[in-house]
Amino acid sequence: MKRYAYLLLLSIPFIACKNQEKKEAPGPVATQSYNEEYRLQYHFSPPAHWMNDPNGLVYNDGNYHLFYQYYPEDTKWGPMHWGHATSKDLIKWDNKPIALYPDSLGYIFSGSAVVDKHNTAGFGTQDNPALVAMYTYHDPVGAQEGKDDYQYQAIAYSLDNGETFTKYEGNPVVPNDEKIKDFRDPKVFWYEPEEKWVLILSVLDHSSFYESKDLKTWQKMSDFGLEVGAHGGVWECPDLFKLPVDDGAKEKWVLIININPGAPNGGSGTQYFVGDFDGKKFTTTQTEAKWLDWGPDNYAGVTYNNAPTDDRIFIGWMSNWEYGQETPTEKWRSSMTLPRKLTLTKIDGDYIVKNYPIKAFAERLTPKSYTAEDLPIKDKAVQQGEIRFTLPQPLKDFEFTMGNASGDTLSIAYVAAEKEFKIDRSKSGLTGFSDKFANKDLVAPAVFAKGETVDFVLYVDQSSLEFFVDEGATVMSVQFFPHESYDFFNIDTENKLTNISLAHVPGIWE
Ligand code: FRU
Repeated sequence: MKRYAYLLLLSIPFIACKNQEKKEAPGPVATQSYNEEYRLQYHFSPPAHWMNDPNGLVYNDGNYHLFYQYYPEDTKWGPMHWGHATSKDLIKWDNKPIALYPDSLGYIFSGSAVVDKHNTAGFGTQDNPALVAMYTYHDPVGAQEGKDDYQYQAIAYSLDNGETFTKYEGNPVVPNDEKIKDFRDPKVFWYEPEEKWVLILSVLDHSSFYESKDLKTWQKMSDFGLEVGAHGGVWECPDLFKLPVDDGAKEKWVLIININPGAPNGGSGTQYFVGDFDGKKFTTTQTEAKWLDWGPDNYAGVTYNNAPTDDRIFIGWMSNWEYGQETPTEKWRSSMTLPRKLTLTKIDGDYIVKNYPIKAFAERLTPKSYTAEDLPIKDKAVQQGEIRFTLPQPLKDFEFTMGNASGDTLSIAYVAAEKEFKIDRSKSGLTGFSDKFANKDLVAPAVFAKGETVDFVLYVDQSSLEFFVDEGATVMSVQFFPHESYDFFNIDTENKLTNISLAHVPGIWE
């Protein structure tokens, strides 16, 4: 892929000495101020330098781990490491040292992590189970030499809850014998009915399923997706899990497939399929892609393994490969979405995966209520806040606008005739850093349950907006880079507005 090619030459010294890791790269520093222009205050972003996909999302022994694709020497993509942070509540994060460094087998690309409770791999003990990370090695030398087998899967384990990792000496555990160029992003999970591990890999523009009893030896079981869903780009970062349908009477399996390019609003996006999994094969009657988030800035999202509750928690990278490396931040670049709970519901007879910030997030806020007569609302909480409002059904055209005194505005319009939401960020602030950033309206088909009203919730954090309709039935996440902080919002509608509120969201780094 183009973006992996451009740093190949630069990276060769990295892998020159066999089996020696480059450890002297500067890791994240806990003392970083988090005060830079555009720096998000209540989302996770790395202390410094470049970040992309969330990796190895796993809960273990009181900690939610967030590993992530990390390049500690620049604010653009480079030889990939796994950065690391942990959280007790998914709200506040502690930055940790880099977990995995590139070595003679290649860069450390995306993957997942599990707690090996039955000690199937023999790395730990029953009393101290190993945390096992599975990731893709990307060999930049092989790629540069024009080979096809430069991506393969490997494991590493930790016996101290993610503080340090040892790479398995038998790596790679899934070699690339068939010489497939895009062969990556392992998602592993424990499949209880057959007491085995299941692995999903992204393979060109489809996915392959494998099984293992010990995380070290893998057998291929099946393929999915050649004829189904979106194929405008490479399939990346898969995930598969069960969700109850609404009241829990029935369960379905949800397969998440990230794709780049080929998303509905350009570049990177997250499609999903609702179906069944019998331990060997994923099947669905769905033919067209469904999209988890219609905004351009939610990519490579996956969910937590071993979560302490039944909640299925998702985190995505709040950016897009079309312009992610060009955004006007210095020192650090890009952030994660808020952790979102995934639920499965039926709307108009169709399965919809809703995604909505975890409950604990809003519970700690103290919103101030307003009436329609108070609009427009001028308050500096807008730039780092939660905004709520409710409108009656049938929903009529309306326009939500937020902005600043310099004339920057970002708007969300509902167009009833088309049953669509449209976000316009073309006047939101700096846009010229990439011609892909603000070249069109960002459009989402409006999905919400029938009822008396529809609830809208917006989370704004300096340079990001996450827009949720009907608790996540329609979602759009977008970045924007204003000339000065936004400090007002308005809602233009002839309909009756209720439940208007604004809450300042406290920063998590203080
Ligand atoms: C997704 C992705 C993955 C890959 C990683 C490399 O954004 O392209 O497929 O493992 O990023 O950083």
